[in-house]
Amino acid sequence: MGTVDTNYVGLLTEIEPQIAKLVDRHTSLAKAWFPHDYIPYSKGRDFDRDPWAPAQATLSEASQVAFHVNLLTEDNLPSYHRLIHAMFDKGDGAWRHWIHQWTAEEGRHAIVIRDYLMVTRNIDPIALERGRMQTMTRGYERPDCPLRGLAYTSFQELATRVSHLNTGKSSGDPVAERLMTRVAQDENLHMVFYRDALGIAFEVDPSAVMKAIVAEVIGFQMPGAGISGFGHMANIMAANGIYNMRIHHDEIVAPLLRFWKVYDRTGLDDEAQAARDKLASFVARLDRAATKLDERARLALQKPAA
Ligand SMILES: [Fe+2]
Ligand SMILES: [Fe+2]
Repeated sequence: MGTVDTNYVGLLTEIEPQIAKLVDRHTSLAKAWFPHDYIPYSKGRDFDRDPWAPAQATLSEASQVAFHVNLLTEDNLPSYHRLIHAMFDKGDGAWRHWIHQWTAEEGRHAIVIRDYLMVTRNIDPIALERGRMQTMTRGYERPDCPLRGLAYTSFQELATRVSHLNTGKSSGDPVAERLMTRVAQDENLHMVFYRDALGIAFEVDPSAVMKAIVAEVIGFQMPGAGISGFGHMANIMAANGIYNMRIHHDEIVAPLLRFWKVYDRTGLDDEAQAARDKLASFVARLDRAATKLDERARLALQKPAA
């Protein structure tokens, strides 16, 4: 090895033939679907004659909050496209093909969720547009290391899948549940792509990939964390079982670490081994904190209403 390739251009180029196979697999599995098939347009009416009012919403408050967060997250796609393009696009090949495919599919998510919320009046259109402007002008940044990018997108796509699914389920509206289940299927295929791409990189440079995974688990934040009022909205989503620490540990972090056989990997350098030890104690703490939160929520439910 000569000079240090901090952007992993060599690694990305080396594994590109395997990435091409993942892209082909994705293309064969991803079925075309059309947002208009999921929207009850007959419920729509003009906002000038019938302005939006909170009482028109039919979903629970928690469900409205979850839809708002999930839609603004999807709306921020241009920021994500710019980032993954900078991390992975090393010329006209499989990586670039994937980035374009991924971006096109993500765009459909914002379209279908927005149309549903507008037609059914389950979102304040002015608050939504202000929120979208605020989120997008603020932008979204993260370290541009491609290995960290692959680790992050694996966790994030799985987290988004679970959050969309639970948002649909919590709605109590079969129309919403159907469309969020459809969106979640896309997120699952995205997760599988990034997860397997990182798995391929793991075989080439186990130490670098280990450090990337550890950094992303410890520093994980949902992409919507920059949304104005996110903390409060995340609390509502957590209390309603849409996304919380228990789900994050059990359904996101643990299954991916298991899939990558993180604790069985050999051939690590000292730094990567130390990082893995740090990961093990971090994940154990996460599990304990989730148990504590569950217990607190259970006790709060048992308390007689004042
Ligand atoms: Fe999405
Ligand atoms: Fe996705």
